[in-house]
Amino acid sequence: MATELVLEMRHITKDYPGVRALDDVSFELRRGEVHALVGENGAGKSTLMKVLAGAVAKDAGETLVGGEPVEITSPHDAMDAGVSVIYQEFNLVPYLSVAENIYLGREPKLPFGFIDWRSMRSGAAEALARIGASISPRAVISDLSVAEQQMVEIARALSVDARVIVMDEPSATLTEHELKSLFGQIESLKDAGVGIVYISHRLEEIFQIADRVTVLRDGHRIGTEDIENVDHRSIVRMMVGRELRERPEAATAAVGDVLLQVEGLRRAGVLEDISFELHAGEILGIAGLVGAGRTELARAIFGADRRDAGRILLNGEEVPLASPAEAIRRGIGFVTEDRQLQGLVLEMALKENVTLANLGAITTGGFIRRRAEDEAATDFVADLDIRTPSINQRTLNLSGGNQQKVVLAKWLFAAAHHDARARILIFDEPTRGIDVGSKAEIHDIMRRLVRDGAGVIMISSELPEILQMSDRILVMREGRIAGELARQEATQERIMMLATGATESTATL
Ligand SMILES: Nc1ncnc2c1ncn2[C@@H]1O[C@H](COP(=O)(O)OP(=O)(O)OP(=O)(O)O)[C@@H](O)[C@H]1O
Ligand SMILES: [Mg+2]
Repeated sequence: MATELVLEMRHITKDYPGVRALDDVSFELRRGEVHALVGENGAGKSTLMKVLAGAVAKDAGETLVGGEPVEITSPHDAMDAGVSVIYQEFNLVPYLSVAENIYLGREPKLPFGFIDWRSMRSGAAEALARIGASISPRAVISDLSVAEQQMVEIARALSVDARVIVMDEPSATLTEHELKSLFGQIESLKDAGVGIVYISHRLEEIFQIADRVTVLRDGHRIGTEDIENVDHRSIVRMMVGRELRERPEAATAAVGDVLLQVEGLRRAGVLEDISFELHAGEILGIAGLVGAGRTELARAIFGADRRDAGRILLNGEEVPLASPAEAIRRGIGFVTEDRQLQGLVLEMALKENVTLANLGAITTGGFIRRRAEDEAATDFVADLDIRTPSINQRTLNLSGGNQQKVVLAKWLFAAAHHDARARILIFDEPTRGIDVGSKAEIHDIMRRLVRDGAGVIMISSELPEILQMSDRILVMREGRIAGELARQEATQERIMMLATGATESTATL
């Protein structure tokens, strides 16, 4: 019997200490289908895909690819079986080049076994161009932004000749612009008969490209539906097991004094002539395409990168801000987009990460008061709904979205215990990978912060989030501020026009 299924996973179970990550989950994928996999943070999505890719050993169940049972226990087996995965937490080698990463483990060879660098670079350039990424194949991974790394991860997965491609939150840091190229690629893969598993917390994307959707909750499969038979609301209900309460559009806080002034900021080749102010009680959104310099601006203010020109004033007083340590001391918090490298110490316990940015708050006479640490961590686990068996869990073992919540907890803890007069929080993609319910929770927390007199700078690639949260929006393009929009005048079209430099008639969004 000819089957149209490229993939079948049957009765998969996976236990971790204290957590059943997957409980008798079955999942199937048709030829040429985009099958969305959704669920709250910690529901088991990534674990199911890691079982498929052989990155994690299952406790029970079986997997069939193209109707044949397969035992995939290594990345190599996965490649042989035609399974290619874009991981949520990237699997790139930081000190190798883009081209080396794209061809890792399958380098093209010249006679006598030498690596064929030239065809490796041109192949990599081609794979990147197909998804509209302007990244040099020679660039070193550790020099790239998170969004650029994500594009390399995508290019790698697409350049393997695969029957099944898994995309675990490929869009989390991509803007509309890059997303369009990705969706174009997905369409041609579908036409070629490839089956695609697409994981995302942005439900609107799922309605754009998915044919079917499967919902997981607490390691169980709740259901699989044709996309025509569900809407936003019914998917959310399946995900969380109840109706999510509607949140009223928040009243914006009263805007107060100027907390931060940036004047003529420049970093050669990256940032040019950046000037703006941030007020107390204000959420300032920063929009722009991947590579526009948004993260670089945040890093320059935070003292993480050198500045070549320009002044920074806090409460009207010029400050050197030469290092992150100084920025933190002066009351600036930076929730980085890169939770793996800068945000967290993954080897440490959840509770240790929470208090990391302000140990002073829980230290007496040089000793860390463990009780205070436990209490802080317990509070944040409840407030942010962090799904974990315990506050002692190693952060490494949390799901992607729950790791992101720990990054937020760490800076919220630091901000709450700060007595410096300037209280400025910079959030870089704060809800990247966060599920719909928790996202609303985090937005509430940001509003509470500004209501209490803090100033917030929020970088986000998600235009709806920028529009919903910002009192004012700066749009960056090629390292400069391309324009500023007040809340009332901001629309997706206006932002995209400024971000791309398009004029009214050529704007495509
Ligand atoms: N290596 C591990 N050790 C212990 N527990 C783990 C490990 N990996 C995952 N878990 C747990 O398994 C559960 C499922 O995690 P998983 O990463 O699959 O969630 P997810 O659906 O991908 O969530 P997210 O949307 O946040 O990425 C979570 O409770 C998580 O804490
Ligand atoms: Mg995940």
